[in-house]
Amino acid sequence: MAVFKTLSPQEITDNPFKLIGSDWGLVTAGTPDSFNTMTVSWGGVGIMWNKPAAFTFIRPQRYTFGFLEEKERFSISFFDDSFRKALAFCGSKSGRDVDKVKETGLTPAFTEDGVPYFEEARLVLVCKKLYGQFLDEESVIEGETVLKQYNGDDWHKMYISEITEVLAK
Ligand SMILES: Cc1cc2nc3c(=O)[nH]c(=O)nc-3n(C[C@H](O)[C@H](O)[C@H](O)COP(=O)(O)O)c2cc1C
Repeated sequence: MAVFKTLSPQEITDNPFKLIGSDWGLVTAGTPDSFNTMTVSWGGVGIMWNKPAAFTFIRPQRYTFGFLEEKERFSISFFDDSFRKALAFCGSKSGRDVDKVKETGLTPAFTEDGVPYFEEARLVLVCKKLYGQFLDEESVIEGETVLKQYNGDDWHKMYISEITEVLAK
């Protein structure tokens, strides 16, 4: 059983551009009995409504999306480089078709509230959803960057979540 210590969000020293954009993370949602995980590399961390916050963007086609919608809390797990292959797998296969835990060898762990994350992570953000809204074409300001990312029905849902717990090794 991995030993995590609890940090305050202010104690995180990672550069978020590298952490999210280059290292990638696993968004995991559900219950101990039924959960799913997927790789994310878009999003951010910061402050919203005076709370430490995580910003995630999830397309509705993802199997993980349904788990996220159902539960109030989810986690974002970050790993060292040796887990790159596992993250690439979780970002290219769907939990509808494969058992990601079995295929990657990652070990699920659960917070006291039953929020799933992974033992092998080096940093875990436990998040409580505060706000969710689909991005839409009407709101686009600079189409050249944005529109090429979408085909019509695949606009991301943005979740603004409070970071309620930070687990680190
Ligand atoms: C590096 C990387 C980053 C990704 N970032 C996101 C993201 O931020 N939002 C999203 O909706 N999908 C993202 N994806 C795609 C999902 O991880 C991918 O579609 C995954 O297979 C979904 O799994 P699921 O169907 O089991 O939920 C990313 C994929 C990779 C490889």
